[in-house]
Amino acid sequence: MSLEGKKIVLGITGSIAAYKTPHLVRLLVKAGAQVRVLLTGAAATFVSPLSLSTVSKNPAISDMSTGDNWNNHVEMGLWADAMVIAPCSANTLAKLSNGLCDNILSAVYLSARCPVFIAPAMDEDMWLHPSTRANIARVRSYGNHIIPVAHGELASGLTGEGRMAEPEEIVQFLAQFFSETNKPLKGIRSLVTAGPTYERIDPVRFIGNFSSGKMGIAIAEALAAMGSNVTLVLGPSHEQTFHPLITIARVENAQQMYDASHRVFGEAGIAVLAAAVADFRPEEQSTGKIKKTGNELNLKLIKTNDILASLGKIKQPGQTLVGFALETDNELVNATAKLTGKNADMIVLNSLQDEGAGFGHDTNKVTLLMPGIAPVSLLLQSKADTAKAIVNHILELRHAQTTA
Ligand code: CTP
Repeated sequence: MSLEGKKIVLGITGSIAAYKTPHLVRLLVKAGAQVRVLLTGAAATFVSPLSLSTVSKNPAISDMSTGDNWNNHVEMGLWADAMVIAPCSANTLAKLSNGLCDNILSAVYLSARCPVFIAPAMDEDMWLHPSTRANIARVRSYGNHIIPVAHGELASGLTGEGRMAEPEEIVQFLAQFFSETNKPLKGIRSLVTAGPTYERIDPVRFIGNFSSGKMGIAIAEALAAMGSNVTLVLGPSHEQTFHPLITIARVENAQQMYDASHRVFGEAGIAVLAAAVADFRPEEQSTGKIKKTGNELNLKLIKTNDILASLGKIKQPGQTLVGFALETDNELVNATAKLTGKNADMIVLNSLQDEGAGFGHDTNKVTLLMPGIAPVSLLLQSKADTAKAIVNHILELRHAQTTA
């Protein structure tokens, strides 16, 4: 992750998450950025300007009235390649939304001509309040970038949405925004499915699987890193991603994944179906909790719609369709049958027999099957590197298709 030579103004507001900002500054500096810090009065009660001056190697400014600080606001806005407001409290968000200007941070924000990144931090109820929703939509409509909040423990003691993204994620978000190298997929939309699906039996039980979603998310990130606008249709996974070019559509079950995938496939140049979709679902979903009455419980399961096969049927020239195959026996034969049977351009064969490959691991070892080409076996490597290799092969395939 590089921010080499980038000039960043970091604005800190009054939120408990401000305690993470010295670490954020260190990460930004480590990534090669020059950092100048601004604090609101409230922020200075959560984190010390002295710590921030020390780690940023520049004076941290919290007061608009002293010295040249007031005049500096225009200069700072012009100096910066990016302004990052992290944490951004509900109060500051409301000010940014309305153009209020009563401190150095809001003054620099209004003068800035560079991209602005906002990492909100607040309690879940505040985050979900209609006024906050409206303020987020408004600041986004001005062209600012919102760094998604995380789900987790909040300062109130409650658990929910509203936590500031971790400093590592903020740096990743910025680095991805600035990485201008190699964007061969700029202007091409992609669809990626990832994660498991949950098929409800009753209000408290479901049929699911052990898929973590890591591989599909890594594919979405690799496509986005090459400039593609990605819709990630994500089943119930605890994994997260923060790339500005990835839009996440959350779904729970196979039918919802089918519907969401069909909604975007028409616009997509590339579709990679990495999700572990349930093949069967309960025919009936009980509205009440099923009680433990008899000694047996028989559930009748019926087939779900096969998303990959259905997209294979409507695929147009210029669209590249990639599926995954998870096999335990007769791997190559079964996976090749999926390649032809589902009209895919590539099947990524995952073997559960390989050490370090498959569900939950951070590494994977796959073989790529493509029509008319001998299978390509990739090494055991991180899921991120596996994803990059898969995407490179997709590019080659598309190149070969357009020059054929
Ligand atoms: N797939 C899908 N929709 C389904 C089932 C599977 O889109 N209802 C996709 C998966 O995302 C994957 C590919 O089909 O890209 C193969 O999935 P896999 O589970 O290996 O194969 P199945 O076709 O389900 O066949 P089987 O379970 O018999 O091996």
